Amino acid sequence: MAAQYYTVATTDELPSGDRIVVEIGHHVIGVFNVDGHYYAIRDVCTHDDGPLADGELIGCEIECPRHGARFDLRDGSVKSPPAVLPVPVYPVRVEGNEVQVEVDV
Ligand code: FES
Repeated sequence: MAAQYYTVATTDELPSGDRIVVEIGHHVIGVFNVDGHYYAIRDVCTHDDGPLADGELIGCEIECPRHGARFDLRDGSVKSPPAVLPVPVYPVRVEGNEVQVEVDV
C-alpha cells in the first residue's frame, strides 16, 4: 500500500515545545513541535528500544530516557552514544489546522 498522510493532531493540540505519541498501523511515532516546526520520528530508540518521546527535548534533539542517546529530530541522526544507528523519521505537513504524518502502513 502506498504511503499516505494521517492526521495526528490539530495545531492547538500540539503547541510549541510539546510532543505526542501516536500509533498508525504497526508504527509507533513521536510527533514534536519545536518552535512551530513539526517533526516525526519512530518512538523506539535504536540502542535498546527506549521510548524516545518520553525523553528530554534539547533544541531539535531528543534524549533517550533510558541511557541518554541523542537523536536529531530533523533527520533521525545520532548525536550522542550509546546508540549508533539513526532512528527513522517521517514526513510531516500541516493542512489547515491539522498536523499530518506520512506513513506507509
Ligand atoms: S535505549 Fe535509548 S539509549 Fe539505550
